[in-house]
Amino acid sequence: MPTAITTRTRMRLNLNLNLNLNVNARLRQTPVKLASSYKPSLRTSDVGAGTWAWGNKLIWDYSEDDDAKLQKAFDILVDGGVSFFDTGDSYGTGKLEGRAEQLLGDFASNYRPSPSPFAPSPDNLVIATKLAVYPWRITTKQMKNALAASQKRAQGRIRVVQLHWSAGNYQPLQERCMWDSICTMYEEGLVEAVGVSNFGPKQLKKVHDYCAAREVPIAVAQTQYSLVSCQQEMEDHRALCADLGIQMIAYSPLGLGLLTSKYASLVDDDDNDNVDAALPTSAVRSSLLKGALPGARTLLRTLRSVARDNGRTESEIAVSWCVGKGTLPIVGVKNVDQAQSVVRCNDGFRLSAKDMSRLDEASKTFEQPIARNVFLTK
Ligand SMILES: NC(=O)c1ccc[n+]([C@@H]2O[C@H](COP(=O)([O-])OP(=O)(O)OC[C@H]3O[C@@H](n4cnc5c(N)ncnc54)[C@H](OP(=O)(O)O)[C@@H]3O)[C@@H](O)[C@H]2O)c1
Repeated sequence: MPTAITTRTRMRLNLNLNLNLNVNARLRQTPVKLASSYKPSLRTSDVGAGTWAWGNKLIWDYSEDDDAKLQKAFDILVDGGVSFFDTGDSYGTGKLEGRAEQLLGDFASNYRPSPSPFAPSPDNLVIATKLAVYPWRITTKQMKNALAASQKRAQGRIRVVQLHWSAGNYQPLQERCMWDSICTMYEEGLVEAVGVSNFGPKQLKKVHDYCAAREVPIAVAQTQYSLVSCQQEMEDHRALCADLGIQMIAYSPLGLGLLTSKYASLVDDDDNDNVDAALPTSAVRSSLLKGALPGARTLLRTLRSVARDNGRTESEIAVSWCVGKGTLPIVGVKNVDQAQSVVRCNDGFRLSAKDMSRLDEASKTFEQPIARNVFLTK
């Protein structure tokens, strides 16, 4: 796929998207639509996958030996109709920066559609990257170069570009240039849709208005959102997205792994050794999860109960709660089991209003909201 999207390529993509939609109608009963002036709008599965862990040794214990396992997980996701993949040019620690984009490009190229009639073509995947708003990236040209580098790593498969965070908090003059850069990328047909990440409601409205004046729709806005991260600020963000026709993306929908059976099974266990044994080896994530667990007991008990009532796992219920709120959750996936769980989240299941409100109430009992992303602006 060339970097610039030609009219012919666009027509082919749209045709593929339509075909894909029909074939996957059973799997994706209400596909998510992303704002774009390309017709028809980009559509994706109800639930997507995130790749922060792919290449991250510090927080996610990544090792190059994991790549074969990750390719299998990717194949299962795509075979199962999961079509939205979130990545970022800063994903990958140290020398591995950009690793997640590169792996996505490799996996999509290596992917061989299964004989299943539901298997989409890799060309139908919606790969969305986030460009880091580093303080030294101050011109549109620099951002376009960054996108070109991402496209090279991902073998030209990136269709959506997002600003990873806003410079509004620390370098307001840089901010306008960042907004110009995503508009220019869209106007020049380098991507099919644009979006932002970690923009609080005030900043989101500003960037929306700027882009709207150039007739560039903001398709997606991602923020940290889950049963352990749904404070008023996030709810304001959700309301604003609904108002402006922006698809809100919920990142860290499992609270970095807290909202899963692994931790739900520990809530009645007072043996510290069992808790310690369940914690990840990464010191950062381990201390975060250990600190959050005591305040999450009531929430995790409710999650477990709703999961049992619906014949689903705790993580599937936590993700379905995000879907029930109208967001597109992107689940961090590291292995085959987790990929299968995300595929099950895409089968059209919806929580009842009663279960949604049970979970809403339980989320209020969580005493120590997962740390707010430092990059999130007002
Ligand atoms: N825009 C931003 O600034 C930003 C920030 C953060 C994340 N994101 C995006 O959002 C994605 C998801 O967020 P996240 O990775 O932070 O966290 P998350 O989705 O809340 O949690 C992911 C972790 O939960 C565990 N897990 C996943 N599925 C599971 C299952 N079915 N059963 C049990 N455990 C399961 C895995 O860890 P273990 O197996 O180790 O337990 C996995 O790595 C990221 O990959 C990234 O693409 C964006």
